[in-house]
Amino acid sequence: MSLRLENVTSDNVQGACELKVEPWQEKFVAPVALSLAEAYARPEAAWPRLVYNDDQLVGFIMGGFDPNCPIDYFRCGIWRLNIAAGHQRTGYGRFAVEELCAEARRRGHTRATVLWVPGPGSPEPFYLRMGFTPTGQIFNGQTVAEYFLG
Ligand SMILES: CC(C)(COP(=O)(O)OP(=O)(O)OC[C@H]1O[C@@H](n2cnc3c(N)ncnc32)[C@H](O)[C@@H]1OP(=O)(O)O)[C@@H](O)C(=O)NCCC(=O)NCCS
Repeated sequence: MSLRLENVTSDNVQGACELKVEPWQEKFVAPVALSLAEAYARPEAAWPRLVYNDDQLVGFIMGGFDPNCPIDYFRCGIWRLNIAAGHQRTGYGRFAVEELCAEARRRGHTRATVLWVPGPGSPEPFYLRMGFTPTGQIFNGQTVAEYFLG
């Protein structure tokens, strides 16, 4: 297994848009194409990256870095994470989160946040396993959680 993140380019953007989570997971994360449109609209804050294992595209992560945002949990964190159906529970999500945290540290952040939709099938157990802790805040029905970057 050789994991890496890659930028989105003209060569891989179609494959990126074809990444699909399990149908029952679609309520927990936006399609990659929508995330890329948002990244296009907010290039100063969005950090979209593709997850590869060797030459296989297996996922997508998008960080958001907006250090001056008045809402503290939108200053540095995970905006999106989609690991393709059939490739989950292999360590790709963990790798993507760790790489995003490394980027956050490079930028001088000390805390990363994530928001998830709660309920059966939600990514909550994954993020708790990654060390995120709910802050007690709720945004639009989503649980806000934080992770302190060592
Ligand atoms: C949530 C998601 C990103 C996890 O990615 P993944 O590649 O399957 O996770 P990993 O294989 O890296 O798992 C890392 C750890 O979390 C655990 N884990 C992952 N999903 C879990 C789940 N649903 N329940 C319990 N534990 C889980 C793994 O067992 C592993 O534990 P370990 O460290 O003891 O081995 C993936 O399932 C996904 O894309 N879901 C649909 C979209 C979504 O909800 N995105 C998040 C939006 S905020």
